[in-house]
Amino acid sequence: MNITASVNDLSHIVSADRAHVWHHLTQHKPFETIDPRVIVEGKGLKVWDATGRETLDAVSGGVWTVNVGYGRESIADAVREQLVKMNYFAGSAGSVPGALFAEALIARMPGMSRVYYSNSGSEANEKAYKMVRQIAHRRHGGKKWKILYRERDYHGTTIAALASGGQEERKAMYGPFPPGFVAVPHCLEYRSQWGDVADYGIRAADAIEEVILREGPDTVGAIILEPVTAGGGVITPPEGYWPRVQEICRKHDILLIIDEVVCGVGRTGTWFGYQHYGVEPDIVTMAKGVASGYAAISCTVTTERVFEMFKDDADDHMSYFRDISTFGGCTAGPAAALENMRIIEDEELLQNTSLMGERLMGNLRALMEKHAVIGDVRGKGLFCGAELVADRASKEPLPEKTVSAVLAGAMKRGVQIGMTNRSLPGLNNTLCLSPALVVSAAEIDQITDAIDGALGEVCG
Ligand SMILES: Cc1ncc(COP(=O)(O)O)c(C=O)c1O
Repeated sequence: MNITASVNDLSHIVSADRAHVWHHLTQHKPFETIDPRVIVEGKGLKVWDATGRETLDAVSGGVWTVNVGYGRESIADAVREQLVKMNYFAGSAGSVPGALFAEALIARMPGMSRVYYSNSGSEANEKAYKMVRQIAHRRHGGKKWKILYRERDYHGTTIAALASGGQEERKAMYGPFPPGFVAVPHCLEYRSQWGDVADYGIRAADAIEEVILREGPDTVGAIILEPVTAGGGVITPPEGYWPRVQEICRKHDILLIIDEVVCGVGRTGTWFGYQHYGVEPDIVTMAKGVASGYAAISCTVTTERVFEMFKDDADDHMSYFRDISTFGGCTAGPAAALENMRIIEDEELLQNTSLMGERLMGNLRALMEKHAVIGDVRGKGLFCGAELVADRASKEPLPEKTVSAVLAGAMKRGVQIGMTNRSLPGLNNTLCLSPALVVSAAEIDQITDAIDGALGEVCG
């Protein structure tokens, strides 16, 4: 077959996709009568599909990934240059872009010191879990092996990452899961578990300590948390939460793993989400925005203290981190990540994120005045959510189907937005917005105008 000819024939592409591609998170029955969507081009925030239809992408590639926007030739050039020179060698050796990106990253993460490369968010978290387990064996006589996670958070799709996920619908039918992952309560004040408490942030953090005491502090090695929960409903932490969490971790000698897979590399207006809250993590994981989807890369970043625990006994042949990720040695990832970081800095995208994030939140709050169906709006930088309810007083969630209809309404108006889906039983009712960090004021208004129109059409 002439592959070049067939890629230019889009009707052939669509039928090849329909016949052979198994799409992520997708029920394929409808494709018996309609075509799957195939995206063929992107520029800035715009994407074009195989039918030629243009859409403004308010979700950075569907899953908050393409932070610097589509069509970045300088990233493609940097990757090409690196690939023709040296595309791959196993990560037991170093590489030029690997060393330079690690240096650049650590310069933006005071207190952190080492970068471990792999190639997906799930894998970055698995590495962190393996570090915790090995520390448990080496330092704590096999104790401190449990890893706490929070309700509504998500940490990935592999079985152990899923075991540490707080979204029951994502986990359903994939068990049994490995032992040692224990849930702590979520911190969404809008759906407070303790009624109307004055200091909700402290209460929610104290709930973590209650779990630690119940499990036994000598059995708990780490806790993993998203700085701002993403797919679980865009949950910004309540006042006082993070300092108290840090205090509890220190008190019980528990490693704090922060999952920056979504928040990392600019999404919230700082390099990392945790940097808003003055937290000092032991391990930070990141993936999506690290190279904006131009190449696959993820990082598990640790403090020197954590790193030291894997090198302090060179005579013990088992004492180093006995882990590898084949594609963690690909040089395209760090080459793309370096250029991605240069763009964010030179184009002052952190500043744009804060500014445009405020505009987006302001527009959403204005929509709240107009549409009773918006029960709550939450966000940090260009990472925002609007929770939809059937009734503001009772906070009864809008059914997932109706929320999907709002998405379809926005799409009809040329804007792709996102929502929590098949994650939380009965609570898949939050619209999610995460446009690229290059978004303009006019594009922000286009996004919220489309939501306005869709809400009017679907919810009256
Ligand atoms: C917070 C968070 N952590 C981890 C992951 C897993 O990343 P990946 O899909 O690259 O494995 C995701 C994916 O959506 C995520 O949102």
